[in-house]
Amino acid sequence: MERGQFSSKIGFIMAAAGAAVGLGNIWGFPTQVASNGGAAFVLVYLILAFCLAYPALMAEMIVGRSARANAVKALPELTDKPILKQFGRLVGLTGLLTVAVILSFYAIIAGWLFSFSLAPIASLVVDSHWLTDFSLERNIIFTLLFMVATILIIAQGVSSGIERWSKRMMPALIAILLLLIAYMLTLPGAMKGLTHYLVPDFSLVFKGGLIISALGQAFFSLSLGVGCMLIYGSYLSSKENIVKVGAWVTLIDVGLAFIAGLLIIPVMYIAAHHGVEIFDKQGALINGDTLIFNVLPALFEQMGDIGQFVAFLFFLLMSLAGLTSSISLLEVPVAYVVESHGVARKKASWVIGGLITLLSLTIVFNFDWLFGLVIMVTTQYSQPVLGLFFCLFAGWVWHRDHALAEIKKGYPEAEQSLFWKIWPWYVRFVCPVFIIVMFINALIGS
Ligand code: PHE
Repeated sequence: MERGQFSSKIGFIMAAAGAAVGLGNIWGFPTQVASNGGAAFVLVYLILAFCLAYPALMAEMIVGRSARANAVKALPELTDKPILKQFGRLVGLTGLLTVAVILSFYAIIAGWLFSFSLAPIASLVVDSHWLTDFSLERNIIFTLLFMVATILIIAQGVSSGIERWSKRMMPALIAILLLLIAYMLTLPGAMKGLTHYLVPDFSLVFKGGLIISALGQAFFSLSLGVGCMLIYGSYLSSKENIVKVGAWVTLIDVGLAFIAGLLIIPVMYIAAHHGVEIFDKQGALINGDTLIFNVLPALFEQMGDIGQFVAFLFFLLMSLAGLTSSISLLEVPVAYVVESHGVARKKASWVIGGLITLLSLTIVFNFDWLFGLVIMVTTQYSQPVLGLFFCLFAGWVWHRDHALAEIKKGYPEAEQSLFWKIWPWYVRFVCPVFIIVMFINALIGS
């Protein structure tokens, strides 16, 4: 069977940046900024994203392109030692499982965002509270709708599904984001928010947990550790300079997180100006779902008719960001079933998508205890640990010359480049050590 491939460099960048830019950027990042002391967090995040997450991203992309296969197949191919082969398979399979669980909670959140985006339109004709009130029925219906949209795109394949839709959705997402910022920054209160966001209080940088949270956020945001970037890399043409293309993806991902902060943090202060409560009992900025689903809608409500339009655009933006990421999540297990078990793509998409939907619904029905738990297990434990193993495989198990040969395909002068002087050391030592420290810290902290 012919393997899918992205048809152009820009197609790849849009798709991979789309995978990376998601709720993690537009919701997670600003939220973390709000709860971790503003600009100090921004600063640490930027450093870690470029110095640690980028090399880890490159590890996945290069391995993927070299093997031209999913992670379960690709990791064992890096070595001749049977035991390491087995272990590689295990890491790949755990990645598949993790990705399935991430998608199952991601679809629930994205479903809410979708229902919130429809609410302002629906309210023109009917009472739309059903769309914004938390209810079992609403959660079920919108999780299903979101999963179906994801499946429909993945069933179309790499270039006519993922690439085509990412190329449509990403520019729309960026345009909406910029439009909202331009409007919001003209409102009273915005400048105070901007100061909180951009002027760091250096004393906070070494406050417990800040660095750990920033690294975790960077890993989640760049979709690392679950084989997502590996499979996207496997669809990238050998002609492309993978070092540069990966840098673009990182830049867009980090850039959009930063820009999303320019929207969300000032908007909180605008809300405060309107009398909406933005600090919790401990005096910290409200964050997480309360921020997105209570504070912001309260603000939009106060803004009258234009507020309804802004609400529509804002939640549409969030839904699009969710969809370009959810397709990359579904692609991981689908690619595995297609490649390793010879199942047709359409069938694989519906069957795997269907199974993940069942998992989603299980969470919806057991929301109180299961929702937070799956998020914690996958993002705080599975992802960093798997990310560590991906780095160890790329840095220690894989022969350096093979990695270099792969990079050189689209970048003949790679051997003399700064990238090649630094990257092998980073994936061997710096990234693993950092991830281990982060992980131990998280364990102690919890
Ligand atoms: N990077 C995505 C986001 O920021 C989430 C994601 C994680 C997607 C892991 C794929 C794999 O929302």
